[in-house]
Amino acid sequence: MTTTAPAFPTHPFPPDFVWGVATSSFQIEGATNKDGRGDSIWDSFCRLPGVIADGSDGSIACDHYHRLDEDLDLIAGLGVNAYRFSVSWPRVQPSGSGAWNEAGLAFYERLVDGLLARGIKPYLTLNHWDLPAALQTSGGWANRDTVHRFVDYAIGLNARLGDRVASIATHNEPWVVAFLGHESGIFAPGIKDRAVAAQVSHHLLLSHGLALQALRAQGCKASLGIVLNLAPVQAATTSAEDIEQAHLEDGRLLRWYMDPLFKGGYPQDVLDFLGEDGPRIEAGDMQQIALPMDFLGINYYSRSVVSAAGPWDAKTSGLELTEMGWEIYPEGLTQLLLRLHQDYAVPPLYITENGGAFKDSLVDGVVKDDDRTDYIAAHIAAVGAAMRQGVPMCGYMVWSLLDNFEWASGYEKRFGIVHVDYATQTRTPKDSAVWYRAFLRAQQLAHAPLNVALTEV
Ligand code: FCB
Repeated sequence: MTTTAPAFPTHPFPPDFVWGVATSSFQIEGATNKDGRGDSIWDSFCRLPGVIADGSDGSIACDHYHRLDEDLDLIAGLGVNAYRFSVSWPRVQPSGSGAWNEAGLAFYERLVDGLLARGIKPYLTLNHWDLPAALQTSGGWANRDTVHRFVDYAIGLNARLGDRVASIATHNEPWVVAFLGHESGIFAPGIKDRAVAAQVSHHLLLSHGLALQALRAQGCKASLGIVLNLAPVQAATTSAEDIEQAHLEDGRLLRWYMDPLFKGGYPQDVLDFLGEDGPRIEAGDMQQIALPMDFLGINYYSRSVVSAAGPWDAKTSGLELTEMGWEIYPEGLTQLLLRLHQDYAVPPLYITENGGAFKDSLVDGVVKDDDRTDYIAAHIAAVGAAMRQGVPMCGYMVWSLLDNFEWASGYEKRFGIVHVDYATQTRTPKDSAVWYRAFLRAQQLAHAPLNVALTEV
């Protein structure tokens, strides 16, 4: 941990580089029973005993639904030029099909218009995990019909917001929905079935492709893509068993999503591993999934180390860990970006999430989170290093704007660059937010002399 703020990363980012902060609907909005919103699978999941570390839920969260204007001013105050948010599907279409909820649509219109009025580009995600609970009663993502419901949802939202958002991502981290939601079962909807998880992953990818096609057919001008959680996967030792296990894990985490999206097929080693638990694929599905995208969003937090002997203990690595127990490994971000660039014909890339949970304390209105600032600065530098080696990066977004509901960890883990006092809902920018604002200001100034010179000519 440093005692002074880290120097600004020196890579010359282009003037049109997208700098943002990110959130998601269920994690910040609260107001889960307000104005006609339907239940999501996360509302139902939180009601199960013992699944959320602190027994909490999303019913209040950061109360963002009621504090939209204040939060928009907060975002603008950071000096970012982009804000990544997600739409709560059950807020705009309570049962996931049929009737739309005007109050919900109006909320997101106010959000998008409020961003544009402040000169901030809206980056919308359609599915950041809060599937309408009504769809789960008929199988949720395991049911192929949900794919078509999702496409209808995408079309409906595009009709209201598509002309004003800069970008639409179909899904956030399909691996999490499929694996944590349906195989390990630690996230909603809490199913533990490997075959169901494989089918869910296929339906998520298929719905991505079909939504892309439908949005383009509607004339949507927003840049279209998907957001994946990716990491370099490393073997714990040089033993053949560890290397083999790491290769399989790389297949399940990265190639299972990247190969169908960019190469038109699932990796054979993972199909072989799944055997009869592999997904049912219909004719034409793979072509649909592989439609060209305008961008790929990558959420990066750490590397993944794999040992054939069982779960690997990050504490043994000697690297610093965040409060999530995740290793701080910025060089892994450069490695990952170079690998994606080399192995796949990737479109322009964004880091759509990057940040850390740390033990924060608010003292006299200040949160001295140098560890978080160091984390962010090191990862921005890692993006710069990848760009110097030719990777087509066009944006970076910090996770997260606010401390928020961190899924199964509840409110115990704080990722925000802005502190939230949940008792009063007071927002206090942490030192990391002050640093990010100063960094972005320095970026602007770095480009200013050139602009002045051009104007004078
Ligand atoms: C990602 C999620 C995001 C947040 C961060 C810490 O997997 O997309 O919502 O929980 O992790």
